[in-house]
Amino acid sequence: MISKILQRARDFESKYLPYTVSELPMFHVTGGIGWINDPNGFAPYKGEYHLFFQYYPYDTKWGPMHWGHVKTRDFIKWERLPTALAPDTEYDRDGCFSGSAVELPDGRHLLMYTGVRNTRRRNGRIEACQTQCIAIGDGVDYEKLDANPVIDGSFLPEGGSTEDFRDPKIWRENDRYYAAIGNRCADGSGTILLFESEDALHWRYVSVLSACHNQYGRMWECPDFFPLDGKSVLLVSPQDMDAIGLEFHPGNANVCLIGNYDRMLHHLNRENVQAIDYGMDFYAPQTLLAEDGRRVMIAWMQNWETSSCKLRELPFFGQMTLPRELSVRGGRLYQTPVRELENYRGVKIDYHNVLIKGETNLRGINGRCLDMTVTVRPGNENSMYRWFRLYVAKDGEHFTFLRYRPDTGTLKVDRTHSGFPHDIVNVREFPVNLKDGALKLRVIMDRYSMELFVNDGEQAASFVLYTPADAGSISFSSDGSVLVDVEKYELLME
Ligand code: FRU
Repeated sequence: MISKILQRARDFESKYLPYTVSELPMFHVTGGIGWINDPNGFAPYKGEYHLFFQYYPYDTKWGPMHWGHVKTRDFIKWERLPTALAPDTEYDRDGCFSGSAVELPDGRHLLMYTGVRNTRRRNGRIEACQTQCIAIGDGVDYEKLDANPVIDGSFLPEGGSTEDFRDPKIWRENDRYYAAIGNRCADGSGTILLFESEDALHWRYVSVLSACHNQYGRMWECPDFFPLDGKSVLLVSPQDMDAIGLEFHPGNANVCLIGNYDRMLHHLNRENVQAIDYGMDFYAPQTLLAEDGRRVMIAWMQNWETSSCKLRELPFFGQMTLPRELSVRGGRLYQTPVRELENYRGVKIDYHNVLIKGETNLRGINGRCLDMTVTVRPGNENSMYRWFRLYVAKDGEHFTFLRYRPDTGTLKVDRTHSGFPHDIVNVREFPVNLKDGALKLRVIMDRYSMELFVNDGEQAASFVLYTPADAGSISFSSDGSVLVDVEKYELLME
């Protein structure tokens, strides 16, 4: 049955969505109207890939969470479906928070999400109660279970918080279902708890998969746990992180824990802990296992810190990253844009061994929706340069630049002059490696974003850019002599 609250959201989006199409990014998912945050339920279903998202259709700011819905066959072109979930029951009246999805053996589509109910205490404090709930449907309409919530505070180990207990990631393995769920434990920081079930409806607590111990932020949100290239990988999004060197930035960060899974103790033994994305705008990633065996990740391309900073005229707020293929090499996470992006490449322009001294423009190298790889090498063995800069989204007033400095071995991205009307989180710097003396930067730009892939996926960095669409110049600059190769494709949708 479709509740009045869900019907209202569906009516609202069918009324207003058609007016926003020309303003949308070309190939990045947005809500089209209203607000979106985390990706949810990113999973295959009946031969297609579905994606839901935290969604408030009525305003470009966060509000009681619904689940918006899109699907795709190739991760690039998305089809919009009606809102899937609305906060319309007693146990989720204050929000259907993040969660995930699986296809059941009988062909039904199961969504597992966090129901939120807030209660105002006598002292005025609002206390949240977060429980795990299920809705089952056919890929468009979903029915919430009468038995909801299926996991509540009574399942938690001693000291577990019922206020911070959210974001179930469900998967099926050996005829069982497992769910990794974020929780805050007695030491005040995050744990990822593992639950199991035979039927995805009746659950039991298994173990602490991994714990923060106040080392990487406080509460750990939006876990995802999967095997990859002989290792086990846990993705988490910590809140209240302190910066750690240039690896982790402060605030809401993103962390990847790679190691071996102890199947007896149901515990992840960590071997490497790294950032997932080194940019300014990346949170709450979620992955799926594609039918051809690829592990594909998508994330909210936004920073909570700047979530009140927007362009007044845009009818939507929040977008997803490009889906990325993951791999683990040498104990580290690699990511590259899904290969399907290459089907949308138009005209190619390339240059080899161009000497950059001072500022240089290259004929045909410009644009705002593009896929461009720039390889940077020193001009000759004896010549040193102190910096190399790549300017994008440039006109007389605006620019964003990437600057590499060989002495610090760091890449800095600065969007201070990108047209973002807020003096907050505009610079990010992170260490990068040279491969055979060269730095390889793949830059993917859409109307409101730039995603960077360093050295064939060794690092990724995502940035929202609100630069006016006609600022499309690109230039190269160095204080010494640098040789570059450039390969640029425009990206086209039709
Ligand atoms: C992460 C998050 C989740 C929660 C959702 C609410 O961005 O805080 O933990 O489920 O957003 O919208």
